Amino acid sequence: SRTATRTGDGEMAVGGVAASDLARDFGTPLYVIDEHDARSRAVEVREALQSAFARIGTHAHVYYAGKAFLSTEIARWMTEAGCRIDVCSGGELAVVLAAGVDAANVGFHGNNKSLAEIERAVVAGVGTIIIDSLQEIERVADAAARNGRRQRVRLRVNSGVHAHTHEFLATAHEDQKFGLTLEQAPDAVARIRAHGDLEFLGLHGHIGSQIFGEGGFAESAARLLGVHKALLRDGPVPELNLGGGFGIAYTSADDPTPIRQLADAIADIVRDECARLEIPLPEVAFEPGRTIIGTAGMTLYEVGTTKPVALDADGRPLSRLYVSVDGGMSDNARPALYGADYSARIASRTSDAAPALVRVAGKHCESGDIVVNDDYLPGDVAPGDLLAVAATGAYCWSLASNYNYLGRPPVVAVRDGGARVIVRGETEADLLARDAGLDGR
Ligand code: LLP
Repeated sequence: SRTATRTGDGEMAVGGVAASDLARDFGTPLYVIDEHDARSRAVEVREALQSAFARIGTHAHVYYAGKAFLSTEIARWMTEAGCRIDVCSGGELAVVLAAGVDAANVGFHGNNKSLAEIERAVVAGVGTIIIDSLQEIERVADAAARNGRRQRVRLRVNSGVHAHTHEFLATAHEDQKFGLTLEQAPDAVARIRAHGDLEFLGLHGHIGSQIFGEGGFAESAARLLGVHKALLRDGPVPELNLGGGFGIAYTSADDPTPIRQLADAIADIVRDECARLEIPLPEVAFEPGRTIIGTAGMTLYEVGTTKPVALDADGRPLSRLYVSVDGGMSDNARPALYGADYSARIASRTSDAAPALVRVAGKHCESGDIVVNDDYLPGDVAPGDLLAVAATGAYCWSLASNYNYLGRPPVVAVRDGGARVIVRGETEADLLARDAGLDGR
Protein backbone atom coordinates (compact mmCIF):
# COMPACT_ATOMS: atom_id res chain seq x y z
CA SER A 1 0.00 0.00 0.00
CA ARG A 2 1.08 3.57 -0.58
CA THR A 3 0.38 4.10 3.11
CA ALA A 4 2.38 1.27 4.70
CA THR A 5 4.56 2.49 7.56
CA ARG A 6 6.89 0.89 10.10
CA THR A 7 6.06 0.74 13.81
CA GLY A 8 8.64 1.64 16.50
CA ASP A 9 10.07 -1.87 16.51
CA GLY A 10 10.41 -2.01 12.75
CA GLU A 11 7.29 -3.93 11.92
CA MET A 12 5.23 -2.97 8.89
CA ALA A 13 1.84 -1.48 9.57
CA VAL A 14 -0.92 -0.68 7.14
CA GLY A 15 -3.98 1.36 8.00
CA GLY A 16 -2.44 1.59 11.47
CA VAL A 17 -2.52 -2.20 11.99
CA ALA A 18 0.72 -4.14 12.49
CA ALA A 19 1.42 -7.01 10.11
CA SER A 20 1.81 -9.55 12.93
CA ASP A 21 -1.57 -8.57 14.35
CA LEU A 22 -3.16 -9.10 10.95
CA ALA A 23 -1.48 -12.50 10.57
CA ARG A 24 -2.45 -13.55 14.09
CA ASP A 25 -6.09 -12.50 13.76
CA PHE A 26 -6.81 -13.53 10.18
CA GLY A 27 -4.07 -15.95 9.17
CA THR A 28 -1.95 -15.97 6.04
CA PRO A 29 -2.10 -15.63 3.10
CA LEU A 30 -4.19 -12.54 3.57
CA TYR A 31 -5.36 -9.83 1.20
CA VAL A 32 -5.17 -6.50 3.00
CA ILE A 33 -6.93 -3.46 1.60
CA ASP A 34 -6.27 0.01 2.94
CA GLU A 35 -9.75 1.47 2.98
CA HIS A 36 -8.70 5.14 3.15
CA ASP A 37 -6.29 4.57 0.29
CA ALA A 38 -8.93 2.91 -1.91
CA ARG A 39 -11.54 5.55 -1.18
CA SER A 40 -9.22 8.53 -1.55
CA ARG A 41 -7.65 7.16 -4.71
CA ALA A 42 -11.13 6.72 -6.23
CA VAL A 43 -11.90 10.34 -5.42
CA GLU A 44 -8.52 11.47 -6.75
CA VAL A 45 -8.91 9.64 -10.07
CA ARG A 46 -12.50 10.79 -10.52
CA GLU A 47 -11.63 14.39 -9.69
CA ALA A 48 -8.56 14.38 -11.92
CA LEU A 49 -10.63 13.26 -14.92
CA GLN A 50 -13.61 15.47 -14.13
CA SER A 51 -11.59 18.61 -13.53
CA ALA A 52 -9.52 18.05 -16.69
CA PHE A 53 -12.65 17.76 -18.80
CA ALA A 54 -14.46 20.57 -16.95
CA ARG A 55 -11.50 22.77 -17.88
CA ILE A 56 -12.10 22.12 -21.58
CA GLY A 57 -15.84 22.59 -21.13
CA THR A 58 -17.39 19.15 -20.82
CA HIS A 59 -18.14 16.44 -18.28
CA ALA A 60 -16.37 13.15 -17.56
CA HIS A 61 -18.21 10.13 -16.16
CA VAL A 62 -15.98 7.77 -14.22
CA TYR A 63 -16.90 4.10 -13.91
CA TYR A 64 -14.88 1.93 -11.54
CA ALA A 65 -14.07 -1.30 -13.44
CA GLY A 66 -15.34 -3.96 -11.06
CA LYS A 67 -13.39 -6.76 -12.71
CA ALA A 68 -10.25 -5.44 -10.97
CA PHE A 69 -11.67 -6.23 -7.50
CA LEU A 70 -15.30 -6.30 -6.54
CA SER A 71 -17.22 -7.01 -3.36
CA THR A 72 -20.29 -5.29 -1.97
CA GLU A 73 -18.09 -3.28 0.40
CA ILE A 74 -15.79 -2.11 -2.40
CA ALA A 75 -18.83 -1.26 -4.57
CA ARG A 76 -20.08 0.99 -1.75
CA TRP A 77 -16.70 2.70 -1.35
CA MET A 78 -16.61 3.45 -5.05
CA THR A 79 -20.17 4.74 -5.07
CA GLU A 80 -19.44 6.97 -2.09
CA ALA A 81 -16.39 8.28 -3.94
CA GLY A 82 -18.73 9.42 -6.72
CA CYS A 83 -17.84 6.71 -9.21
CA ARG A 84 -20.25 4.71 -11.31
CA ILE A 85 -19.50 1.00 -11.75
CA ASP A 86 -18.65 -1.06 -14.80
CA VAL A 87 -19.50 -4.79 -14.69
CA CYS A 88 -18.91 -7.49 -17.27
CA SER A 89 -21.03 -10.44 -16.17
CA GLY A 90 -24.29 -11.29 -14.46
CA GLY A 91 -22.29 -12.22 -11.37
CA GLU A 92 -20.60 -8.82 -11.14
CA LEU A 93 -23.99 -7.21 -11.74
CA ALA A 94 -25.47 -9.25 -8.88
CA VAL A 95 -22.74 -8.01 -6.53
CA VAL A 96 -23.28 -4.32 -7.30
CA LEU A 97 -27.07 -4.66 -7.08
CA ALA A 98 -26.69 -6.50 -3.75
CA ALA A 99 -24.50 -3.61 -2.59
CA GLY A 100 -27.39 -1.25 -3.24
CA VAL A 101 -25.72 0.56 -6.12
CA ASP A 102 -28.27 2.45 -8.24
CA ALA A 103 -28.53 0.40 -11.45
CA ALA A 104 -28.74 3.65 -13.42
CA ASN A 105 -25.07 4.16 -12.54
CA VAL A 106 -23.95 0.80 -13.88
CA GLY A 107 -22.43 0.04 -17.28
CA PHE A 108 -22.64 -3.55 -18.52
CA HIS A 109 -19.94 -5.01 -20.77
CA GLY A 110 -19.19 -8.35 -22.35
CA ASN A 111 -18.52 -9.81 -25.77
CA ASN A 112 -20.93 -12.69 -25.18
CA LYS A 113 -23.60 -11.68 -22.70
CA SER A 114 -26.20 -14.38 -22.30
CA LEU A 115 -29.87 -13.66 -22.99
CA ALA A 116 -30.49 -14.09 -19.24
CA GLU A 117 -27.78 -11.55 -18.41
CA ILE A 118 -29.21 -9.04 -20.89
CA GLU A 119 -32.72 -9.56 -19.54
CA ARG A 120 -31.58 -9.11 -15.99
CA ALA A 121 -29.63 -5.95 -16.80
CA VAL A 122 -32.59 -4.42 -18.64
CA VAL A 123 -35.06 -5.35 -15.89
CA ALA A 124 -32.73 -3.96 -13.23
CA GLY A 125 -32.56 -0.67 -15.12
CA VAL A 126 -28.84 -0.74 -15.88
CA GLY A 127 -27.78 2.69 -17.13
CA THR A 128 -25.86 1.61 -20.21
CA ILE A 129 -25.26 -1.65 -22.01
CA ILE A 130 -22.14 -1.73 -24.12
CA ILE A 131 -23.12 -3.55 -27.30
CA ASP A 132 -20.29 -5.71 -28.54
CA SER A 133 -21.64 -7.49 -31.64
CA LEU A 134 -24.28 -7.16 -34.32
CA GLN A 135 -26.34 -10.01 -32.81
CA GLU A 136 -26.49 -8.17 -29.53
CA ILE A 137 -28.32 -5.20 -31.03
CA GLU A 138 -31.44 -7.31 -31.57
CA ARG A 139 -31.04 -9.12 -28.27
CA VAL A 140 -30.91 -5.91 -26.25
CA ALA A 141 -33.69 -4.32 -28.30
CA ASP A 142 -35.93 -7.38 -27.73
CA ALA A 143 -35.30 -7.33 -23.98
CA ALA A 144 -36.00 -3.59 -23.86
CA ALA A 145 -39.24 -3.96 -25.85
CA ARG A 146 -40.41 -6.91 -23.74
CA ASN A 147 -39.89 -4.93 -20.58
CA GLY A 148 -41.26 -1.66 -21.86
CA ARG A 149 -37.94 0.14 -21.40
CA ARG A 150 -35.83 2.43 -23.50
CA GLN A 151 -32.31 1.09 -23.03
CA ARG A 152 -29.28 3.31 -23.37
CA VAL A 153 -26.46 1.63 -25.23
CA ARG A 154 -22.93 2.29 -26.37
CA LEU A 155 -21.19 0.52 -29.22
CA ARG A 156 -17.84 -1.06 -28.53
CA VAL A 157 -15.44 -0.56 -31.40
CA ASN A 158 -11.96 -1.79 -31.95
CA SER A 159 -9.92 1.27 -32.80
CA GLY A 160 -6.98 -0.85 -33.89
CA VAL A 161 -4.90 0.73 -31.14
CA HIS A 162 -3.29 -1.70 -28.79
CA ALA A 163 -1.51 -0.22 -25.83
CA HIS A 164 0.63 -2.06 -23.39
CA THR A 165 2.55 -0.31 -20.65
CA HIS A 166 5.17 1.89 -22.31
CA GLU A 167 4.20 1.41 -25.91
CA PHE A 168 1.22 1.36 -28.13
CA LEU A 169 0.71 -0.12 -31.55
CA ALA A 170 -1.77 1.17 -34.07
CA THR A 171 -2.69 -1.38 -36.71
CA ALA A 172 -5.44 -1.34 -39.30
CA HIS A 173 -7.28 -4.36 -37.99
CA GLU A 174 -6.68 -6.31 -34.93
CA ASP A 175 -7.25 -9.97 -34.49
CA GLN A 176 -9.27 -10.00 -31.28
CA LYS A 177 -12.74 -10.71 -29.99
CA PHE A 178 -13.96 -7.37 -28.66
CA GLY A 179 -16.17 -4.89 -30.44
CA LEU A 180 -16.78 -4.12 -34.08
CA THR A 181 -14.36 -2.53 -36.49
CA LEU A 182 -14.55 1.20 -37.07
CA GLU A 183 -15.74 0.43 -40.61
CA GLN A 184 -18.70 -1.57 -39.29
CA ALA A 185 -19.70 1.09 -36.79
CA PRO A 186 -21.90 3.34 -39.00
CA ASP A 187 -24.06 0.43 -40.12
CA ALA A 188 -24.32 -0.94 -36.57
CA VAL A 189 -25.28 2.48 -35.22
CA ALA A 190 -27.92 2.86 -37.95
CA ARG A 191 -29.41 -0.45 -36.82
CA ILE A 192 -29.35 0.71 -33.18
CA ARG A 193 -31.03 3.97 -34.11
CA ALA A 194 -33.71 2.11 -36.05
CA HIS A 195 -34.89 0.56 -32.78
CA GLY A 196 -37.20 2.84 -30.83
CA ASP A 197 -36.36 0.83 -27.72
CA LEU A 198 -32.69 1.75 -27.83
CA GLU A 199 -31.02 5.09 -27.21
CA PHE A 200 -27.54 5.46 -28.69
CA LEU A 201 -25.06 7.21 -26.40
CA GLY A 202 -21.85 6.88 -28.34
CA LEU A 203 -18.80 4.81 -29.16
CA HIS A 204 -16.70 2.89 -26.70
CA GLY A 205 -13.06 1.98 -27.13
CA HIS A 206 -10.81 0.25 -24.60
CA ILE A 207 -7.24 -0.15 -25.77
CA GLY A 208 -5.56 -2.22 -23.09
CA SER A 209 -4.41 -2.20 -19.52
CA GLN A 210 -1.41 -1.08 -17.45
CA ILE A 211 -0.76 1.80 -19.90
CA PHE A 212 1.68 4.52 -18.87
CA GLY A 213 1.54 7.37 -21.39
CA GLU A 214 -1.22 9.25 -23.17
CA GLY A 215 -0.12 8.22 -26.68
CA GLY A 216 -2.46 5.24 -27.02
CA PHE A 217 -5.42 7.22 -25.69
CA ALA A 218 -4.61 10.03 -28.12
CA GLU A 219 -4.52 7.72 -31.11
CA SER A 220 -7.68 5.91 -30.03
CA ALA A 221 -9.60 9.15 -29.31
CA ALA A 222 -8.62 10.53 -32.73
CA ARG A 223 -9.78 7.40 -34.51
CA LEU A 224 -13.04 7.16 -32.56
CA LEU A 225 -13.83 10.84 -33.03
CA GLY A 226 -13.48 10.52 -36.78
CA VAL A 227 -16.32 7.96 -36.79
CA HIS A 228 -18.16 9.89 -34.07
CA LYS A 229 -18.26 12.87 -36.45
CA ALA A 230 -19.71 10.75 -39.25
CA LEU A 231 -22.40 9.45 -36.85
CA LEU A 232 -23.43 13.02 -35.98
CA ARG A 233 -24.89 13.41 -39.48
CA ASP A 234 -27.81 11.10 -38.63
CA GLY A 235 -28.49 11.81 -34.99
CA PRO A 236 -27.09 12.82 -31.63
CA VAL A 237 -23.91 11.28 -30.20
CA PRO A 238 -23.74 12.70 -26.71
CA GLU A 239 -20.80 10.71 -25.33
CA LEU A 240 -17.46 9.10 -26.06
CA ASN A 241 -16.17 6.30 -23.80
CA LEU A 242 -12.40 5.82 -23.79
CA GLY A 243 -12.36 2.78 -21.46
CA GLY A 244 -9.83 2.11 -18.72
CA GLY A 245 -6.22 1.05 -18.60
CA PHE A 246 -4.21 3.59 -16.58
CA GLY A 247 -1.06 1.89 -15.25
CA ILE A 248 0.34 1.70 -11.73
CA ALA A 249 3.76 1.08 -10.20
CA TYR A 250 4.27 -2.55 -9.24
CA THR A 251 7.99 -2.18 -8.56
CA SER A 252 10.39 0.73 -8.34
CA ALA A 253 11.15 0.22 -12.05
CA ASP A 254 7.64 1.45 -12.94
CA ASP A 255 7.08 5.17 -13.29
CA PRO A 256 3.50 5.84 -14.41
CA THR A 257 2.46 9.34 -15.38
CA PRO A 258 0.47 10.92 -12.53
CA ILE A 259 -3.27 10.70 -13.18
CA ARG A 260 -3.76 14.49 -13.20
CA GLN A 261 -1.16 14.93 -15.90
CA LEU A 262 -2.60 12.05 -17.92
CA ALA A 263 -6.15 13.38 -17.55
CA ASP A 264 -5.07 16.86 -18.69
CA ALA A 265 -3.20 15.46 -21.66
CA ILE A 266 -6.17 13.32 -22.77
CA ALA A 267 -8.59 16.23 -22.30
CA ASP A 268 -6.38 18.47 -24.46
CA ILE A 269 -6.26 15.82 -27.15
CA VAL A 270 -10.06 15.45 -27.17
CA ARG A 271 -10.50 19.24 -27.26
CA ASP A 272 -8.01 19.73 -30.10
CA GLU A 273 -9.38 16.84 -32.12
CA CYS A 274 -12.99 18.07 -31.77
CA ALA A 275 -11.87 21.56 -32.80
CA ARG A 276 -10.04 20.16 -35.82
CA LEU A 277 -13.09 18.10 -36.84
CA GLU A 278 -15.38 21.05 -36.09
CA ILE A 279 -17.70 19.00 -33.91
CA PRO A 280 -19.12 19.81 -30.47
CA LEU A 281 -17.31 18.34 -27.47
CA PRO A 282 -19.06 15.18 -26.30
CA GLU A 283 -19.23 14.15 -22.68
CA VAL A 284 -16.61 11.50 -22.05
CA ALA A 285 -16.51 8.38 -19.94
CA PHE A 286 -13.65 6.35 -18.46
CA GLU A 287 -13.50 2.95 -16.79
CA PRO A 288 -10.41 2.79 -14.58
CA GLY A 289 -9.97 -0.27 -12.37
CA ARG A 290 -6.34 -1.01 -11.61
CA THR A 291 -5.26 2.58 -10.98
CA ILE A 292 -7.93 2.95 -8.30
CA ILE A 293 -7.63 -0.31 -6.39
CA GLY A 294 -4.21 -1.73 -7.35
CA THR A 295 -1.96 0.05 -4.91
CA ALA A 296 -4.52 0.01 -2.09
CA GLY A 297 -4.04 -3.73 -1.70
CA MET A 298 -1.21 -5.90 -0.51
CA THR A 299 -0.85 -9.59 0.30
CA LEU A 300 0.68 -10.94 3.48
CA TYR A 301 2.32 -14.36 3.38
CA GLU A 302 4.34 -16.40 5.85
CA VAL A 303 7.67 -17.87 4.81
CA GLY A 304 7.73 -21.66 5.20
CA THR A 305 10.96 -22.82 3.63
CA THR A 306 14.08 -21.32 2.08
CA LYS A 307 16.44 -22.98 -0.34
CA PRO A 308 19.61 -21.58 -1.90
CA VAL A 309 20.40 -22.48 -5.50
CA ALA A 310 23.83 -22.09 -7.05
CA LEU A 311 23.16 -22.50 -10.77
CA ASP A 312 20.69 -20.83 -13.08
CA ALA A 313 18.52 -22.64 -15.65
CA ASP A 314 21.42 -22.60 -18.15
CA GLY A 315 23.90 -24.00 -15.66
CA ARG A 316 25.67 -20.70 -15.02
CA PRO A 317 26.73 -19.86 -11.46
CA LEU A 318 24.11 -17.89 -9.61
CA SER A 319 23.38 -17.27 -5.99
CA ARG A 320 19.65 -17.18 -5.51
CA LEU A 321 17.54 -17.93 -2.50
CA TYR A 322 14.15 -19.51 -3.11
CA VAL A 323 11.75 -18.30 -0.45
CA SER A 324 8.53 -20.30 -0.39
CA VAL A 325 5.37 -18.82 1.06
CA ASP A 326 1.99 -20.24 2.02
CA GLY A 327 0.05 -19.05 -1.06
CA GLY A 328 1.05 -18.47 -4.66
CA MET A 329 -0.53 -18.67 -8.08
CA SER A 330 -3.97 -19.41 -6.61
CA ASP A 331 -4.08 -15.99 -4.90
CA ASN A 332 -2.00 -14.15 -7.50
CA ALA A 333 -2.05 -15.63 -10.98
CA ARG A 334 -0.49 -12.57 -12.62
CA PRO A 335 3.19 -13.61 -12.56
CA ALA A 336 2.28 -17.00 -14.08
CA LEU A 337 -0.24 -15.53 -16.55
CA TYR A 338 1.54 -12.37 -17.66
CA GLY A 339 5.06 -12.57 -16.28
CA ALA A 340 4.02 -9.72 -13.99
CA ASP A 341 6.60 -8.25 -11.61
CA TYR A 342 6.02 -7.62 -7.93
CA SER A 343 8.24 -6.75 -5.01
CA ALA A 344 8.39 -8.22 -1.51
CA ARG A 345 9.45 -6.92 1.88
CA ILE A 346 9.83 -8.59 5.24
CA ALA A 347 6.84 -7.19 7.11
CA SER A 348 7.42 -8.61 10.59
CA ARG A 349 10.82 -7.06 11.35
CA THR A 350 13.72 -5.08 10.00
CA SER A 351 17.10 -6.62 9.37
CA ASP A 352 20.64 -5.41 8.83
CA ALA A 353 21.63 -8.58 6.99
CA ALA A 354 23.18 -8.09 3.55
CA PRO A 355 20.62 -8.26 0.74
CA ALA A 356 20.24 -11.55 -1.08
CA LEU A 357 18.79 -12.16 -4.51
CA VAL A 358 15.55 -14.00 -3.90
CA ARG A 359 12.72 -15.56 -5.82
CA VAL A 360 9.52 -15.78 -3.83
CA ALA A 361 7.68 -18.95 -4.81
CA GLY A 362 4.30 -20.29 -3.81
CA LYS A 363 3.33 -23.71 -2.50
CA HIS A 364 1.63 -25.08 -5.60
CA CYS A 365 2.75 -28.18 -7.48
CA GLU A 366 4.00 -26.22 -10.44
CA SER A 367 7.38 -24.67 -11.09
CA GLY A 368 5.80 -21.55 -12.67
CA ASP A 369 4.21 -20.82 -9.32
CA ILE A 370 6.13 -17.61 -8.65
CA VAL A 371 5.02 -14.67 -6.53
CA VAL A 372 8.02 -12.40 -7.01
CA ASN A 373 10.44 -13.37 -9.74
CA ASP A 374 13.46 -11.29 -8.76
CA ASP A 375 13.95 -9.11 -5.74
CA TYR A 376 16.36 -8.54 -2.91
CA LEU A 377 15.50 -9.38 0.69
CA PRO A 378 17.72 -9.38 3.77
CA GLY A 379 19.83 -12.54 3.52
CA ASP A 380 18.60 -13.76 6.90
CA VAL A 381 15.00 -14.11 5.66
CA ALA A 382 13.76 -17.23 7.40
CA PRO A 383 10.77 -19.47 8.09
CA GLY A 384 8.20 -17.61 10.17
CA ASP A 385 8.93 -14.21 8.65
CA LEU A 386 5.92 -12.41 7.23
CA LEU A 387 6.34 -11.15 3.67
CA ALA A 388 4.31 -8.30 2.25
CA VAL A 389 3.82 -8.14 -1.50
CA ALA A 390 2.70 -4.68 -2.61
CA ALA A 391 0.14 -3.58 -5.19
CA THR A 392 -1.99 -6.72 -5.22
CA GLY A 393 -5.31 -4.85 -5.10
CA ALA A 394 -6.20 -5.34 -8.75
CA TYR A 395 -6.70 -8.63 -10.61
CA CYS A 396 -5.40 -10.83 -7.79
CA TRP A 397 -8.42 -11.73 -5.69
CA SER A 398 -10.59 -11.43 -8.80
CA LEU A 399 -8.41 -13.92 -10.69
CA ALA A 400 -7.94 -16.24 -7.69
CA SER A 401 -8.57 -19.97 -8.00
CA ASN A 402 -8.72 -23.07 -5.86
CA TYR A 403 -5.83 -24.76 -7.63
CA ASN A 404 -4.53 -27.65 -5.55
CA TYR A 405 -7.57 -27.15 -3.29
CA LEU A 406 -6.23 -24.11 -1.57
CA GLY A 407 -9.02 -21.97 -0.18
CA ARG A 408 -9.14 -18.37 -1.35
CA PRO A 409 -7.70 -16.16 1.41
CA PRO A 410 -9.91 -13.67 3.23
CA VAL A 411 -9.94 -9.98 2.35
CA VAL A 412 -9.46 -7.63 5.27
CA ALA A 413 -10.02 -3.89 5.18
CA VAL A 414 -7.76 -1.87 7.47
CA ARG A 415 -8.50 1.64 8.59
CA ASP A 416 -7.56 3.87 11.55
CA GLY A 417 -5.91 1.05 13.46
CA GLY A 418 -8.76 -1.40 12.98
CA ALA A 419 -9.26 -4.37 10.67
CA ARG A 420 -12.39 -6.16 9.52
CA VAL A 421 -13.12 -8.97 7.09
CA ILE A 422 -14.90 -7.79 3.95
CA VAL A 423 -14.78 -11.15 2.18
CA ARG A 424 -14.41 -14.33 4.21
CA GLY A 425 -11.73 -16.85 3.30
CA GLU A 426 -12.67 -20.30 2.10
CA THR A 427 -12.47 -23.18 4.53
CA GLU A 428 -11.94 -26.85 3.80
CA ALA A 429 -15.68 -27.27 4.31
CA ASP A 430 -16.30 -24.66 1.60
CA LEU A 431 -13.99 -26.54 -0.73
CA LEU A 432 -15.91 -29.80 -0.19
CA ALA A 433 -19.38 -28.23 -0.10
CA ARG A 434 -20.03 -28.51 -3.84
CA ASP A 435 -18.53 -31.98 -4.24
CA ALA A 436 -21.60 -34.01 -5.20
CA GLY A 437 -19.69 -37.28 -4.74
CA LEU A 438 -20.40 -37.03 -1.02
CA ASP A 439 -24.18 -36.66 -1.43
CA GLY A 440 -26.08 -39.34 0.50
CA ARG A 441 -22.96 -40.88 2.02
N1 LLP B 1 -12.95 -1.30 -19.41
C1 LLP B 1 -12.87 -2.41 -20.17
C2 LLP B 1 -13.78 -2.56 -21.30
C3 LLP B 1 -11.93 -3.40 -19.87
O1 LLP B 1 -11.86 -4.48 -20.63
C4 LLP B 1 -11.06 -3.22 -18.77
C5 LLP B 1 -10.08 -4.23 -18.43
C6 LLP B 1 -11.19 -2.06 -18.00
C7 LLP B 1 -12.14 -1.12 -18.35
C8 LLP B 1 -10.34 -1.78 -16.79
O2 LLP B 1 -8.98 -1.71 -17.10
P1 LLP B 1 -7.93 -1.20 -15.98
O3 LLP B 1 -8.20 0.27 -15.75
O4 LLP B 1 -8.14 -1.99 -14.74
O5 LLP B 1 -6.61 -1.45 -16.60
N2 LLP B 1 -6.21 -9.41 -15.90
C9 LLP B 1 -5.33 -8.43 -16.51
C10 LLP B 1 -6.05 -7.17 -16.86
C11 LLP B 1 -7.24 -7.43 -17.73
C12 LLP B 1 -7.96 -6.17 -18.04
C13 LLP B 1 -9.21 -6.49 -18.74
N3 LLP B 1 -9.99 -5.34 -19.05
C14 LLP B 1 -4.19 -8.13 -15.57
O6 LLP B 1 -4.21 -8.67 -14.46
O7 LLP B 1 -3.26 -7.40 -15.90
